[in-house]
Amino acid sequence: NSALTSIKLVLLGEAAVGKSSIVLRFVSNDFAENKEPTIGAAFLTQRVNMGDHTIKFEIWDTAGQERFASLAPMYYRNAQAALVVYDVTKPQSFIKARHWVKELREQASKDIIIALVGNKLDMVETGAERKVALEEAENLASQEGLLFFETSAKTGSNVNEVFLAIGQKIPLK
Ligand code: GTP
Ligand code: MG
Repeated sequence: NSALTSIKLVLLGEAAVGKSSIVLRFVSNDFAENKEPTIGAAFLTQRVNMGDHTIKFEIWDTAGQERFASLAPMYYRNAQAALVVYDVTKPQSFIKARHWVKELREQASKDIIIALVGNKLDMVETGAERKVALEEAENLASQEGLLFFETSAKTGSNVNEVFLAIGQKIPLK
């Protein structure tokens, strides 16, 4: 059978952590070294087959630049799932991620599924210094009941897994 479930999903996180790159990897299995900052937000969709079920992700990729901050509630307000993204080499981006989790818990739908995503793991694997400890992120995830992954949009590592894990937590119609 071909039952179809749609999931409204939003990506939040500081500018340049790789939100659009994660979406580009998931939707087109592609990567761009010099991706331009998102203006406002971008909308993309991707279908994934899970057993006899198809999930259609309806993805709002928001802009991280501060001047667009006031738009975010419009995109997370009726989202069923959120990716809160930080850069494992940028401690400030993890502080921002904590703020996003708090804001979602206070303002978004009560049953929203949140995945905390530490991106740019490839940089650590090729010699850059890790600035956000795995344990620190795992602690936040367990305290707040978040899914948690470290990813690389550049290599594709763990990107599909984030979306599949969300798909598995959504009640199917
Ligand atoms: P805003 O739209 O401004 O909020 O930024 P964003 O979070 O969408 O970041 P974007 O995807 O545009 O990526 C910013 C820069 O980081 C680009 O130059 C990407 O090529 C690079 N980048 C994104 N993901 C990765 C990754 O996993 N590894 C590495 N090495 N670079 C990455
Ligand atoms: Mg972007």
